[in-house]
Amino acid sequence: MAGQPPTLALALAVVLLVGPGARANDAALPPGPSARARPPAQRHNALERVNVGATRPDPDPTVRLSVSSTKLKRSGQWFTVEWANVPNPDWGDWVALLPAYADPIWSATPFKYDIAGKTPSHIRRGSGKLRRARGAARRALACVAATVGPSRSPPTQLLMRDVRFAFMRGGLVAPRLVAVSEVIRVINPNEPLQGRLALTGNGPSEMLVQWSTHNSSRAIVKWGERAGKLTEAAEAESHTYTKDEMCGAPANTIGWNDPGLIHVAKLVGLTPGRRYHYRFGDEDWGFSKEFSFRAAPPEGPGSTVKFLAVADLGQAEEDGSLESFYYAPSLNTTRLMQKEGDSYQLMLHNGDISYARGYVSQWDNFHHQMEPLVTRMPYMVAPGNHERNWPGTRDRFDGRGAVYDSGGECGVAYERRMTMPIPGPDKP
Ligand SMILES: *[C@@H]1O[C@H](CO)[C@@H](O)[C@H](O)[C@H]1NC(C)=O
Ligand SMILES: *[C@@H]1O[C@H](CO)[C@@H](O)[C@H](O)[C@H]1NC(C)=O
Repeated sequence: MAGQPPTLALALAVVLLVGPGARANDAALPPGPSARARPPAQRHNALERVNVGATRPDPDPTVRLSVSSTKLKRSGQWFTVEWANVPNPDWGDWVALLPAYADPIWSATPFKYDIAGKTPSHIRRGSGKLRRARGAARRALACVAATVGPSRSPPTQLLMRDVRFAFMRGGLVAPRLVAVSEVIRVINPNEPLQGRLALTGNGPSEMLVQWSTHNSSRAIVKWGERAGKLTEAAEAESHTYTKDEMCGAPANTIGWNDPGLIHVAKLVGLTPGRRYHYRFGDEDWGFSKEFSFRAAPPEGPGSTVKFLAVADLGQAEEDGSLESFYYAPSLNTTRLMQKEGDSYQLMLHNGDISYARGYVSQWDNFHHQMEPLVTRMPYMVAPGNHERNWPGTRDRFDGRGAVYDSGGECGVAYERRMTMPIPGPDKP
């Protein structure tokens, strides 16, 4: 039916399909073939809707899938994915962005996905186009021409994250992978990303700069009082966290991706209230653009601090993917805070931070979303139930029934990603 004009009958069919098709994605998950690969029953982010363990290869050589570029040159680059020749297109068809290292390719949780039928030509003609931002963690979303069938690339432990698009059918409950795109290769796996500041607890003369890369060594912050004249350097200490430190699934199963290295550099000797300029990165792979912040005001009754405070923020994708979930306003909230940001000196986030709940890629996207704001002022966090709680780990719900709210992270991802004055998965 590809290429034919829509008939009246088909147009009517579309109208009828919209409701039930959309609802089918919300249906209760059937038991997956493998408990390890089953997403959590209670869902708080859009990735938790994908029944990864039930995904099956179902190559369809007629379906064509293409991407606008196979090179990811820098964070934030947009890609267009196009597909064509999908027979009997319906509302259960979707486009996923998957890590290229997954073997088999259908065994991984997508970094993002979107419903093909959002593009009107899909239901009419079985073809369409989505424009997608490559978000936080060297990822992309969209497609080009067709390697058809599952990838057989060798498994690898590498992080930064070549990706490919896949055309999926069968909705999120019983996904079938019918076509995959060429791999989009990350050109600089150590582009410094996800910048964020924090206070150390030792007063206004210190500030931590934190960011992430794949595996670069020699991470430093160049900084100074004058824009463009960064005469000081602060070496970073680097750490990470591992799958073995996770307390349960999905954090140690389908949600896992290597989080890379988290770099933390301490700037010292700051003058209270003064503005400082800085870049983070390393000489091997390059530096971030220049950011600036104002050191905290002097301590004492004469000082005023204006701060932003949020809780339960979550995250959303700039390209509208995953939008079926209810965190879309989080992006607007973040943007509004950015707009007003210059009149504030501090941001507090009182728990329920990213709602990643065991999916590393959601943390990456969260830090990407927050970077423009929290590179300007220190970002101080406290853990919520969605960062911390897991049965048998001495969380505050222990003995009061099993609470699985952290998706298996049990505070570890929270603690490692944001160095706070009091170390510990339960501490601010
Ligand atoms: C960093 O990772 C790349 C592959 O992604 C690898 O080739 C390289 O040896 C690693 N470098 C270090 C310092 O571990
Ligand atoms: C976000 O803001 C834009 C306009 O700035 C508005 O059109 C849109 O509806 C808002 N989205 C949400 C989810 O609040």
